[in-house]
Amino acid sequence: MTSARADDHLLDELQTVTLTVNGSRRSVAVPPHRTLLDGLREEVGLPGTKSCCAEGECGACTVLLDGRAVNSCLVLCVEAEGHEVTTIEGLSQDGLTDLQEEFLNAGAVQCGFCIPGQVVAAEYLLRTNPSPSEDEIREGMSGNLCRCAGYQRIVRAVQATAARRSGGDD
Ligand code: FES
Ligand code: FES
Repeated sequence: MTSARADDHLLDELQTVTLTVNGSRRSVAVPPHRTLLDGLREEVGLPGTKSCCAEGECGACTVLLDGRAVNSCLVLCVEAEGHEVTTIEGLSQDGLTDLQEEFLNAGAVQCGFCIPGQVVAAEYLLRTNPSPSEDEIREGMSGNLCRCAGYQRIVRAVQATAARRSGGDD
């Protein structure tokens, strides 16, 4: 009896959150303290967004929230109610993007753990600044850490993508 009452209490605490993830409307029932990061990975079933520091320091959990790059470990699921989230899976749902191809071409993918967050952050950077200088790339990507220290290669990948996109406009 005690455990049934405890379960009722847990169910009472769940909140239904409806959000759009990678273009699809999704509803999840989550406790109020569940982060968007955990909601995406555990409730929506999208493991591409990585969980690492859980305190906004590493950028591994970067997603786009209404088009802006955010650390999803610092956003509560309930705060995403009614909003639009794009994860690495959403960016690449039609296959590898030009940016991902340039990460590979530049040899920027080493252990790979930080790469989904790096790619989402770089995509946001290029959408807001299509021709960034090297300093602007380093500044724009400064919230994304790479334990393999592939920073120079990541910069090259972003530069190559910017050049490719600007060439495609001709
Ligand atoms: S896991 Fe979110 S910033 Fe590190
Ligand atoms: S490629 Fe290993 S942490 Fe960045």
